[in-house]
Amino acid sequence: MIKRTKIADLLQCTDYGQKVCVKGWVRTRRGSKSVNFIAINDGSTIKNVQVVADTEKFDPEILKAIGTGACLAVEGTLVESQGAGQSQEIQAEEIQVLGTCAPDYPMQKKGQSFEYMRRNAHMRLRTNTFGAVFRIRHHMAMAIHRYFHEHGFYYFHTPIITASDCEGAGQMFQVTTKNLYELKRDSQGKIDYTDDFFGKPTSLTVSGQLEGELGATALGAIYTFGPTFRAENSNTPRHLAEFWMIEPEVAFYDINDNMDLAEDFIKYCVKWALDNCADDLAFLNKMIDPSLLERLHFVLEHDFVRLTYTQGIEILEKAVAEGHPFEFPVYWGCDLASEHERYLVEQHFKRPVILTDYPKEIKAFYMKQNDDGRTVRAMDVLFPQIGEIIGGSEREADYDKLMTRIRELEIPMKDMWWYLDTRRFGTCPHSGFGLGFERLILFVTGMQNIRDVIPFPRTPGVADF
Ligand code: 4AD
Ligand code: MG
Repeated sequence: MIKRTKIADLLQCTDYGQKVCVKGWVRTRRGSKSVNFIAINDGSTIKNVQVVADTEKFDPEILKAIGTGACLAVEGTLVESQGAGQSQEIQAEEIQVLGTCAPDYPMQKKGQSFEYMRRNAHMRLRTNTFGAVFRIRHHMAMAIHRYFHEHGFYYFHTPIITASDCEGAGQMFQVTTKNLYELKRDSQGKIDYTDDFFGKPTSLTVSGQLEGELGATALGAIYTFGPTFRAENSNTPRHLAEFWMIEPEVAFYDINDNMDLAEDFIKYCVKWALDNCADDLAFLNKMIDPSLLERLHFVLEHDFVRLTYTQGIEILEKAVAEGHPFEFPVYWGCDLASEHERYLVEQHFKRPVILTDYPKEIKAFYMKQNDDGRTVRAMDVLFPQIGEIIGGSEREADYDKLMTRIRELEIPMKDMWWYLDTRRFGTCPHSGFGLGFERLILFVTGMQNIRDVIPFPRTPGVADF
């Protein structure tokens, strides 16, 4: 057979009459006794190529093996299609069955539930929906790297195994090489880690921020983009135990610069999707969420609303007074639930919202303390359908204030000395934020469940594949 052409490239081609070869998986086969129409997809695009096979030219055994899911190599002539729905097709001259497909192929039937798809996540990648989602996911990763590269940020790799708890929420997965059944203990019965791999307790990181701050206060502007782990027992459509996070961190930025960056960055990513993923977005808009494209354009074209947490609470309290039924109570000091965030975004402002200046009790130790003694320079970006998509802040640059907060929260200092050194050796104002990559993909694809925008999700009780 001649050299293979990817279907995405083939469908751009109108040089009819030439010999071509495609390889891919059969989506459908239909036809009559004399002619078969085989739709093949190779993942390079959501579109299939139609292969026309005159049955008399082929061994009946081969034709029999061409069922949904089988893998084929086809050589033939590229011709202008007579049928509706495609402009080119391949008049087959040679067909090789690279792999037959067993009858229990789980993606046989159309219209299966997403829950069914998750149980078969190893094969769901071959469907239109998941193909679209994961091509878009790739493009979003490209957009992120391009954005930061074009804006003078350095891609900075922070460790995955760490001895510090950045968010201080105690949701970490421990890393150990010890036999858990024969743990060494000290005289008080506490686990002795001296003979463990690192000689102390270590975990998978919940955030690369603390190391990112070291990068930013040396290189000026950095971003991380890597896997993060949280052992929070949240079985929600917006939480994963393993997710990817993008964390820019910039020296000399205050919270306003930080908000400008977040807004510009997200809009760049959304525009990138519209510019580079048109076919996949059109499919998702048709099949998954008919308001998807409208929402993407809307976010691009409008400024995000900026207000303080305190103002946000006032709006929510007013909604409660007017009888809006929230599940969770609203009061100054409460951690906003997704329903509160979405109310502000979807019903009150009808625009993305950036909330700032949260009560210090519900935010992490590193955030810059406001003069009121009650709030910190936090910022959360809230999005329609999603709720919180970004969390960030200006950082506390003052050594003494930072130490006071660390002592109040009783954060173990033994493993923090290196972080505090940034405040001792040439401290500077700086800011940063974290974007949950899967939450961005949720927004851009219109998918409803975060488990459906990462190839192999990890959630409580689920670590298959
Ligand atoms: O708000 P978070 O916890 O902030 C941080 O980790 C900071 N250290 C970021 C920084 O300032 N550099 O998490 C940031 C974002 C959230 O807004 C959310 O989009 C996402 O990460 N996120 C999750 N995504 C999926 N599953 C989870 N369990 C997530 N937890 C947070
Ligand atoms: Mg947060």
